[in-house]
Amino acid sequence: MIFSGSSNKPLAEKIAHLLDKKVSPAEIFVFPDGEKRIRIKEKVLGQDCVIIQSASIPPDENYMELFIMLDALKRSGAKSIRTVIPYLGYQRQDHIFRDGEAVSLEVIAEILTRVGMTELFSFDLHSPKIPDIFSVPVKHLSALPVFADKIKADFNLNEIVLVSPDMGGIRRIKEISGILGNIPFATVEKNRDLLSGEINDSGLTGDVRGKVAVIVDDMISTGITMVEATNLLIENGAAKVFVFATHAVFARHAEKILQNSRIERVVVSDTIDVPSYSQFPKLKILSIAKTAADALKY
Ligand code: R5P
Repeated sequence: MIFSGSSNKPLAEKIAHLLDKKVSPAEIFVFPDGEKRIRIKEKVLGQDCVIIQSASIPPDENYMELFIMLDALKRSGAKSIRTVIPYLGYQRQDHIFRDGEAVSLEVIAEILTRVGMTELFSFDLHSPKIPDIFSVPVKHLSALPVFADKIKADFNLNEIVLVSPDMGGIRRIKEISGILGNIPFATVEKNRDLLSGEINDSGLTGDVRGKVAVIVDDMISTGITMVEATNLLIENGAAKVFVFATHAVFARHAEKILQNSRIERVVVSDTIDVPSYSQFPKLKILSIAKTAADALKY
């Protein structure tokens, strides 16, 4: 049985359809003060259940809804609750950066398992070590094969150079370069102020002159990383810049920044639902529903 939270119903419908199922009804009632009451409307006793909920903006609200939904399924006797969190919010807080900080992702992991999650499915986690934080099995899926197909279809591979917008993304860029037959890649060295989160300077390793640069990253939040990397690539002679990112977090006014930038096209996946009012002409959304559905078959 497949259940959906309210953050990404279109993806839940697509996954259910690919599995020849329907999304089972759950009542999500919002009290005047914003608290939610969730009720599972069908018998789940002894059933293997799946919940799909992205921890996108607003992350706290979407997580809370997921926690309560898990609890409702657990109390109703579900045998297992595999939980698809296509975008795992708080994943960038997976360790202590400065003295006195919390490891927020560990808090999320504790609650999820405590309220009944038996297995986690997620996409393009910020760090390959994140699964270690969870005490239940984690299926780490990726949008990179979907992106690689799109890159093969749209570009002449001899003319492009892949680009990681920061040093942390090198593993990802090597992976997609491998899928595409080991095409060359370059790396932007981005330095972010740990206190303010601002990017204070960046440099480039690798040759992009005369090439079509294709930046690949895990997420676009404010869009500043992508825009600054694009400007740097153009300053260094790149002919055009395209960007691919799995998670369209789109914080603040990322849509405007991206549309008004020198980026030719922004390709994202549907791990996060981008409402029509946040879509913009340069945006293209590819679906990872089949990857999720295939993973859920086993
Ligand atoms: C950082 O390490 C991530 O991979 C992304 O590059 C970053 O989170 C994007 O943030 P923003 O869009 O706000 O620059």
